[in-house]
Amino acid sequence: MKVTASAPGKLMLMGEHAVVYGAACLVTAVDQRLFVSAEEISGQKNVISAPQVKETRFLEESIAAFRKKCGVKDAVTIETESEFSHNVGLGSSSAVTVATFKALSALFSMSLSRREIFDASYKVVSSIQGVGSGFDVAAATFGGVLYFVKGGKVIDPLNVNRLPLIVGYSGVKADTAALVNRVKHAYKSDRDRIESIFKKISNLVEEGKEVMLAGEHNRLGYLMTKNHSLIRDLDVSTEKLDSMVEVAIGAGAWGAKLSGAGGGDCMIALSPDTKRKGVERAIEEVGGEIIDVEVCAEGVRVE
Ligand code: PMV
Repeated sequence: MKVTASAPGKLMLMGEHAVVYGAACLVTAVDQRLFVSAEEISGQKNVISAPQVKETRFLEESIAAFRKKCGVKDAVTIETESEFSHNVGLGSSSAVTVATFKALSALFSMSLSRREIFDASYKVVSSIQGVGSGFDVAAATFGGVLYFVKGGKVIDPLNVNRLPLIVGYSGVKADTAALVNRVKHAYKSDRDRIESIFKKISNLVEEGKEVMLAGEHNRLGYLMTKNHSLIRDLDVSTEKLDSMVEVAIGAGAWGAKLSGAGGGDCMIALSPDTKRKGVERAIEEVGGEIIDVEVCAEGVRVE
């Protein structure tokens, strides 16, 4: 029997970096998905084919952790397919880990709750990446829009059905671990300044949550732009991301910011539908690539 599970990609809406130090963030799952198919095979050795994934370690360690947790000895063959590249920063590592746990639990008829899948996946992802809040694992597991605190201390689904978001890829792959470490060094050498930036980001996230729930997109956009300028103060943005943000706002977006660790990957803009085309064109004119995604996508599921 072959079982396929899929998990969605993610985008950080607000609160990156500060979330690593205990503040809350806002994250959404996106409707581009990563698929994991699992099948039992005879023998001892697992066979993994995952060309779309950055490192097969995420799969190997998920299989090992699943076998240990559920007392399963059989070997499996795993294949992946993805609707997004691991270069764009939509969270392929966390999506593949979460989808692997789901596929294996379905294959061996073990029922794992979403919370169990989150905890097990976060353990695997943290042991490989060494840094990270787990927001990406939460988005892949639970889907939707989440108010999230590091390690899953808080995972609150927010009742948001639509966000008119435009996503622009900078063309550069971000090195999340290096950027998190850069902020860590700044935190060590200039703690008061960095803490005050985190405090401001945290306040924006709290207000962002309320205005998002109230559907006040204009205000949410304003808060996102403020969030971007605080991320710039952390010294993790780039000229390219800054210019994509600037032209998006110039073309009529309510607000815009980079999404994720910085250094590359994507920026997001919140825009009235009437301005969408112009905002997309403006982002493209400065070298960005529009990625078509819907937010608030469903979490991990068996296909
Ligand atoms: O680069 P991304 O998309 O994985 O986002 C990283 C966000 C950080 O807050 C910097 C780290 C984290 O794991 O929360």
